[in-house]
Amino acid sequence: MADKPRMQVRLFKPSVGEEELENLRGVFERAWLGLGPLVSQFEKEWSEYIGAACSIGVNSATAALHLALTAYHFPRGSKVLVPAITFASTATAVLYNELVPVFVDVDPVTLSMDLTDMERKISSDCMAVIPVHLGGHPVPMEKLLEIAQAHRLAVIEDCAHCAGGFYKGKRLGTWGDIGCFSFEEKKSMTTGDGGMICSDQKDLVEPLRAYRWIGIDKDTWKRSAGYTSPEVMDARHWYYEIAVLGYKYNMNDVMAAIGLAQLKKLDWMNARRAEIIRRYLDGIKDCRQIKPLLPYELKNAAYWLFGVRCDQRDKLILHLKQQGIATGVHFLPLPLHPLFKEFDDAIPISKKIWQTFITLPLFPDLTDLEVDYVIEALQEFDQR
Ligand SMILES: Cc1ncc(COP(=O)(O)O)c(C=O)c1O
Repeated sequence: MADKPRMQVRLFKPSVGEEELENLRGVFERAWLGLGPLVSQFEKEWSEYIGAACSIGVNSATAALHLALTAYHFPRGSKVLVPAITFASTATAVLYNELVPVFVDVDPVTLSMDLTDMERKISSDCMAVIPVHLGGHPVPMEKLLEIAQAHRLAVIEDCAHCAGGFYKGKRLGTWGDIGCFSFEEKKSMTTGDGGMICSDQKDLVEPLRAYRWIGIDKDTWKRSAGYTSPEVMDARHWYYEIAVLGYKYNMNDVMAAIGLAQLKKLDWMNARRAEIIRRYLDGIKDCRQIKPLLPYELKNAAYWLFGVRCDQRDKLILHLKQQGIATGVHFLPLPLHPLFKEFDDAIPISKKIWQTFITLPLFPDLTDLEVDYVIEALQEFDQR
């Protein structure tokens, strides 16, 4: 590889272009940038795409997860099961609601919650479970739901990694009671930052519209139509009430404009990611030290993450860095962070296996040339 030109390969890159710019131009021309009609349109199109009765746009999956738990008003100190290997937001949502996270060990192959450990850790004060479809690999939801139903647990799916994915022909995010999605800049599709709550249980989630908007019971953009309308001869057109302690968690029209364009490309972006993963898998199939991170099943897939496992993880990271190839690690088990140290950390598998994880470049605009460059660097390391 020494005589080859050195490339710089990014880890993630949003795929944005003319379609997003065109939608943004419309927002600028209307000069309504905040929570407005495009958020409603995006919510409607998202509900149709996902097959859910109702969707609520927010400014992140972190906010979505926070509010999804808020919807239940669980007694303070109740427990919520979360996987040990996930991003912090899955568990900070629990803490924001003054609830207690119970960390469940992961299955060593799929990296999603080990359902035996989950069942073992359920106690009478346990109210909910948040399965995470890590990297886009689906949790076996029919089995998880069976356990959750037997113990009357609410099920909130953390779909930050799997927008557009299916499990057994049904959309991820529609298996549980509530699905929470991320449109953060690196994710399967993006709105810069952004998120979506979706559910078939309108009575449960509709109150969250006020919670995402400082507790205000009416959207300003709808009220504002009456400010100058002679048909609304009501001097109190400005009136609204705040009955709940809400947050400034709303999505806005700038985000929604980008999201509407991205949604049209989502299936293509997921298909392209699957194609790249297929190329990676083929490239490393004969490696002895480097194995795929997940048991990738690429039909109808919505994988967001491609990674490998390697016992010499740090040496491989440095080797790739030398070649200009960006890497990451998803994720350090949460109980290893100081914030979560006080919670039970009986997660022996997670603590062991995370040390072998390396995330590799994956995004729709990654070229075959770049993928082959990464593969060659992996093979070179493997043959040492
Ligand atoms: C599993 C998981 N859940 C939730 C989040 C939070 O998403 P957001 O950045 O949209 O708040 C992330 C972000 O990386 C994530 O990986």
